[in-house]
Amino acid sequence: MKSRLLRWLVCPQCFGDLTLFAAQSGRSSLDADDHEILERVAPIGSSEEIEVEIMSGALGCQACGVYYPIHNGIPRMLTYSSEVAEVHARGNAAWLSEHLGNYKLPSGSPPPGEENVLRNFSTEWTGYKWTGDGYWNVSTENALNCKRYELGLGKHSLRDKLVLEVGIGIGGTADMLSRKERCEIVGIDLGYAVDQAQHYFGKNPLLHIVQASIFAPPFRPNTFDVVYTHGVLHHTFSTSAAFRSVAPLAKEKNGMLYVWLYSHEHEKVTTLRRLLMSIEGLVRPVLSRLPKAGQTAALLPTLPFYILYQNLHVRRKYGAANTAKYGWNEALHAARDRLTPPFAHRHTYEEVAEWFESAEYAHLEMLRDEQPPDSVPESYRQNVGIRGFRREAAASDK
Ligand SMILES: C[S@@+](CC[C@H](N)C(=O)[O-])C[C@H]1O[C@@H](n2cnc3c(N)ncnc32)[C@H](O)[C@@H]1O
Ligand SMILES: [Zn+2]
Repeated sequence: MKSRLLRWLVCPQCFGDLTLFAAQSGRSSLDADDHEILERVAPIGSSEEIEVEIMSGALGCQACGVYYPIHNGIPRMLTYSSEVAEVHARGNAAWLSEHLGNYKLPSGSPPPGEENVLRNFSTEWTGYKWTGDGYWNVSTENALNCKRYELGLGKHSLRDKLVLEVGIGIGGTADMLSRKERCEIVGIDLGYAVDQAQHYFGKNPLLHIVQASIFAPPFRPNTFDVVYTHGVLHHTFSTSAAFRSVAPLAKEKNGMLYVWLYSHEHEKVTTLRRLLMSIEGLVRPVLSRLPKAGQTAALLPTLPFYILYQNLHVRRKYGAANTAKYGWNEALHAARDRLTPPFAHRHTYEEVAEWFESAEYAHLEMLRDEQPPDSVPESYRQNVGIRGFRREAAASDK
């Protein structure tokens, strides 16, 4: 965890300030270009802020009497007990009793089904060997084009902005966006994908990685210039409740929020797809409850279909340079993503637009109205992708 993150990180239970207790930290220096970007996003207070990285320690909230572990360089901000918090407590017992004797681990209750969401997505990401060649079905270079299209970067620059990605997964797009668009990004994710993200991209000084849930974000309202989330909110017990939890995080008076969610329309684009989606609806609730080995065994027979569909159909349609080649590793990752999440809700543009309006967002922009570059798969706009800009909250909400 970079010290600078403490500017924005707060207790997810009470929004109070956190005290940093560092057990193990290191120092690294910043090149002039990155220094300039950070300075423009938020003026740098001291060299400590940008040079010191905490590898192990804790963040204490005095008001709640709880501490959040920093483990493997990542602040773990879950408000209920978790495997990583227990591992950290066992490995640092003497240090914790010396420095945080009066603090306890958080012991709240998770939102419905969230522990199983955490387990399944953690399996999906930690078992995936990222090669650097692509993200999902697109090549790495084209993944950046896709994000530029989604976020409307032709009209809304990210330059010098503070950005939050909700559900970063392995963190590759946040890494690219921060470097290419010259912004500072905080990425949260519920699961142990954050450890993969830290492994691959932890050295990027423009990127902060945090383990936290959408339902208890460790940030105050009105913090970020831009908040975006792709393929995440529909994997929670309630997409609309997840939306209401992230909507206040963008700044009033023009903070941008972008969400991308599965749609009903995309489910029905072809008869084959309709059939596959019906099968998915039956199989997913069963697979999501199985242990990892059982899931893997059940998914293995589907992998040749993923590989053939991607390598023969998708690559021909969008061009080899724009798409990723699937082997077993990529196919298993895609199959897990489709068939093991406990929740995968579908929505309409109209429904999600109403959520934006109820959360005081205006000037909505919809991907279905925007022609993408040829390299961007059609599924981007066949699903629901909406950007909105936050108004000033009504006095009654303050
Ligand atoms: C399908 S993946 C998408 C990852 C990334 N946005 C991408 O497009 O590659 C969904 C991600 O949402 C995360 N997620 C699910 N529920 C979450 C929650 N309550 N809070 C934060 N992240 C969550 C999962 O851990 C997973 O990494
Ligand atoms: Zn607190």
